[in-house]
Amino acid sequence: IQPDSERLAQWAANYIASKIIKANPTPEKPFKLGLPTGSSPLGTYSALIKLCQKGTISFKNVITFNMDEYVGLPKDHPESYHSFMWNNFFNHIDIRPENVHILNGNAENLEAECQAYEDAIRDAGGIDLFLGGIGPDGHIAFNEPGSSLSSRTRVKRLTTDTIIANSRFFDNDVNKVPKSALTVGVGTVMDAKEVLILVNGHHKARALRHAVEGSITQMWTISAIQLHPKGIIVCDEAACVEL
Ligand code: GLP
Repeated sequence: IQPDSERLAQWAANYIASKIIKANPTPEKPFKLGLPTGSSPLGTYSALIKLCQKGTISFKNVITFNMDEYVGLPKDHPESYHSFMWNNFFNHIDIRPENVHILNGNAENLEAECQAYEDAIRDAGGIDLFLGGIGPDGHIAFNEPGSSLSSRTRVKRLTTDTIIANSRFFDNDVNKVPKSALTVGVGTVMDAKEVLILVNGHHKARALRHAVEGSITQMWTISAIQLHPKGIIVCDEAACVEL
């Protein structure tokens, strides 16, 4: 528990940096990092960018896999997760573009795209650290309430709650929000060696309570972290008011 979102972000960035430094990755043995979008990781990305620009860490031998992407939104749309990741993170660090993996929500065959993503993660040797945020309904990536806790990468219809929550990025117009997304599964995330979840703000308090103190249930998909041998939740005081 950190006092505020700034310190949460710094804690998370320092943790990720320490893992990369400890792994001492090489082109033959890269560090594999799973990444989220959303407002939750923004501070962490800024802090990581600073550490990279200071030379404390390098992403040259880091391979990334993003959690999710909207279906049907052009890649260069300002709200696509491709745009989000390049604008907020990848353009500012020394990562090799060929090491960045983001699901293609415009693939002709979406199921094949999802399978290829699972294969790519497996071929890379699995993910070392999966960073994530959660929605106010406790979803991780786009694993909406009701998603199987052993789910893999697939197409998922967004719930009305998520469409409304994300309409803030689409001129507050729910009609502009894509209705489905490609997402890694809960199982895909939980297969990572470590899972690090960022939770900040009062509006996440209920989700955090279910994640930590509730039972493990597909209705609050982040609750699966309770079974992870190395699952870490970093949160601010505001998110803890229901604990
Ligand atoms: C979306 C993303 C999730 C993210 C969630 C919360 O649904 N698919 O990965 O955790 O939004 O976003 P925010 O961090 O902006 O609250």
